[in-house]
Amino acid sequence: MQEPTYRVAIIGTGGIANHHAGYYAKHPRTTIVAAADIRPDALAAFCEKHNVPARYTDYRELLEKEQPDLVSVCTWTATHPEVTIAAAEAGVRGILSEKPMSAHLGDARRMVAVCQSRGIPLAIHHQRRFEPGLVEARKRIAAGQIGVPIAGNFRTVGGFLNNGTHGVDFHRYLLGDPAPEWVMTQLERRTNRYERGVLVEDRILSSIRFENGYTLTIEVDMDEKPAPHWWVFGTEGTIRFGQGGTVLFARGEPEPLAAESGPGPLDELIAWIEGGPESRNAGHIALVAHEIMMASYESARTRSRVRVPLDAGVERSPLYTMHEEGLLPVSGPAYDIRSLDALRYAFEREGIPLTGEEYLEGQGNWTGQGLAGQVRK
Ligand SMILES: NC(=O)c1ccc[n+]([C@@H]2O[C@H](COP(=O)([O-])OP(=O)(O)OC[C@H]3O[C@@H](n4cnc5c(N)ncnc54)[C@H](O)[C@@H]3O)[C@@H](O)[C@H]2O)c1
Repeated sequence: MQEPTYRVAIIGTGGIANHHAGYYAKHPRTTIVAAADIRPDALAAFCEKHNVPARYTDYRELLEKEQPDLVSVCTWTATHPEVTIAAAEAGVRGILSEKPMSAHLGDARRMVAVCQSRGIPLAIHHQRRFEPGLVEARKRIAAGQIGVPIAGNFRTVGGFLNNGTHGVDFHRYLLGDPAPEWVMTQLERRTNRYERGVLVEDRILSSIRFENGYTLTIEVDMDEKPAPHWWVFGTEGTIRFGQGGTVLFARGEPEPLAAESGPGPLDELIAWIEGGPESRNAGHIALVAHEIMMASYESARTRSRVRVPLDAGVERSPLYTMHEEGLLPVSGPAYDIRSLDALRYAFEREGIPLTGEEYLEGQGNWTGQGLAGQVRK
């Protein structure tokens, strides 16, 4: 009997959608049948590049007419929950949504709850969990090769939710997904900074304690060009990640950690749909990272140590709450570090009038390349 072929729809056809298209092109049982984007030029370019037959500027129309089996949610961050929930309600069999889950908390919780209640596998694209060096590092840590893990450090640029989400999520992966206990955070937002339309701090420093006593320090945008290394420190050794690969420093010579590539995010999502174990990217796992980041914002807002998760009633990001409470006065017009279109779209959705002075600044990625010297102080 022939194994089923999955009809795929991609919603949001910008940069990362090409990465998803690569997964589907490689997989023998997936075919992209349709794509949707509110920007017709981005849609046309994507569909031509990937030979996608059906194009929509309204993703709801796509869901209704195409009835896809799998949906990739590659839109700007604040829309991930509504697109995911619409796809689940349209009866898809599985969803691969981009990180971060949302700009806020309540809707991120809802996207997980809706998919769980309908039995629809939802994976969030934290792809570092599949990098061979990290997979091997996780095994070595579990085998006790660095002793007891006690602390970790992650430095990045480009906004806490945007790039910090990878650091929070993959540290949990390395340590066997421990539950967080509390966070203590300080942040600064003196310029009117956005990232793909999401309100974002100028810089943030967060300390996160896990149930196993491990403390992770996350620094985002603290330096224009952060050292491109992240660390896990144990009582008997250290692992360094980032540029130059993953290296174990324990007894003897430093050992580069490599491994055969295993299954990828799409392979695990399909296996899960077909009754196998849930993906390591399962929505409820990603939600823990999101809860940690939202609790970090709440810690900065309340100037106190905050337990994770936040109360069930917290809907809005505490960063937005701080901004709306006037606790973060800024000077200068709004600017976006990734997409001016996303900023305009977000303002329109939130009823914030555009002044015409909004601008794009910087195009940094997670290594800090391309950002140095471009971030306004
Ligand atoms: N996993 C990763 O490492 C990784 C890397 C890059 C981006 N991302 C995430 O992917 C998302 C998209 O980022 P990008 O770099 O591709 O942005 P992008 O601006 O290149 O593309 C996003 C596309 O979504 C479209 N869009 C937005 N709202 C829409 C809607 N309601 N309906 C249909 N189309 C809509 C936009 O028009 C745009 O073409 C972001 O959330 C980002 O954080 C993740």
